[in-house]
Amino acid sequence: MVNFKPQFYILKEAILKIQDNFRQLYGKEPFTVAGPGRINLIGEHTDYNSGFVLPAAVDKSIYAAIAKNGSNTINVFANQFGEKASFEINEATPRTGWLNYLIGVTYYVQQTGEQIEGVDVIIDGDIPVGAGMSSSAALCSAYGFALNELFSLGFSRMELAVIGQKTEHNFVGLQCGIMDQFASLHGKKGHAMKLDCRSLEYEYIPFDFPDYKIALVNTMVSHSLAGTEYNVRRQQCEEGVALLKKHYPSIKSLRDVTYEQLTRHWKEFNATIYDRCSFIVNENQRLLAGCEALRQNDLSGFGEMMYASHKGLSKRYDVSCKELDFLVEKAKTIASVAGARMMGGGFGGCSINIVHRDAIENFSTEIIHAYSKQFNITPEIYVMQLEEGVSLV
Ligand code: GLA
Repeated sequence: MVNFKPQFYILKEAILKIQDNFRQLYGKEPFTVAGPGRINLIGEHTDYNSGFVLPAAVDKSIYAAIAKNGSNTINVFANQFGEKASFEINEATPRTGWLNYLIGVTYYVQQTGEQIEGVDVIIDGDIPVGAGMSSSAALCSAYGFALNELFSLGFSRMELAVIGQKTEHNFVGLQCGIMDQFASLHGKKGHAMKLDCRSLEYEYIPFDFPDYKIALVNTMVSHSLAGTEYNVRRQQCEEGVALLKKHYPSIKSLRDVTYEQLTRHWKEFNATIYDRCSFIVNENQRLLAGCEALRQNDLSGFGEMMYASHKGLSKRYDVSCKELDFLVEKAKTIASVAGARMMGGGFGGCSINIVHRDAIENFSTEIIHAYSKQFNITPEIYVMQLEEGVSLV
């Protein structure tokens, strides 16, 4: 279950396969783009509150092989699902499933006034779908980047991230922040990125702990609440901001709120809204402290913050689930783990664990055994490398 196959073999195989499929299906030579998935070390649900996040691009990607076809039609084959679809370049109406990401990106690219023509595309990938590693953002990034190159559109990586985010909002219905799209496009080998989601300024922070590895444990569950509850959280945060704004008119988002301001007015809050707001205010502080800990090489301090982040996500923000809580509780009992927490939107997907490299095998065995016994589901474990953002391959 543990992914120990050297990454360059996997990459090469995946690329050769998609290029070969492309030649067979469309009878011409494509160029190929890899859009990585992401992890997030700390700073969850803070992006749509104009706060900070600390993601990194990883060595699992969505691949897009693409070539112009001289028409106004976009033909796509999704290898992972064995599904084929076509749409016109001026299509503006969402359909269903993975196709919406391509329709949306095509639409928003043209909304800027840029012109494109029809293309033939194959998409494939090794990011597990529904695991909270942002396969959808990786798809938007890879496809947007490919169009950008093919038609020399001149979009910056940040502009492509915004196109991906708008697609998610209006063609898929998830009112997400910018973290996932940003991370897929801006990754740097061996580094995480501290992104200020208000100004969109970012800095690369080395994750330089040669004795430690980042291991994701996939719960293999994806509770159906994920989409709807995500948007509800966003509204709840806005409700909190509206209340505090009455006292502090300069507040624009929870990013601007101090813990003192929040606690001073707690009696005016509905208990749930208060919990949501207090998590976000604390999580932003944790992120800033966490970045400092990383700079000081204090991995155990950083690990403590990961556990505190998880507790807040579970108890106050209420986006965890029994499977994720179990994995984090179990990780706490394993001495080789420096820190663990749920990762991403929640309600399933992966936990992120920082594990001593000599203990990866034991960690995996112990986690797989305990989780399978508890839930009768075998979890998958991915040992991640931090990688470059979207690129031509
Ligand atoms: C999802 C969203 C991101 C972010 C995370 C939670 O991945 O797409 O924008 O809000 O959840 O941190």
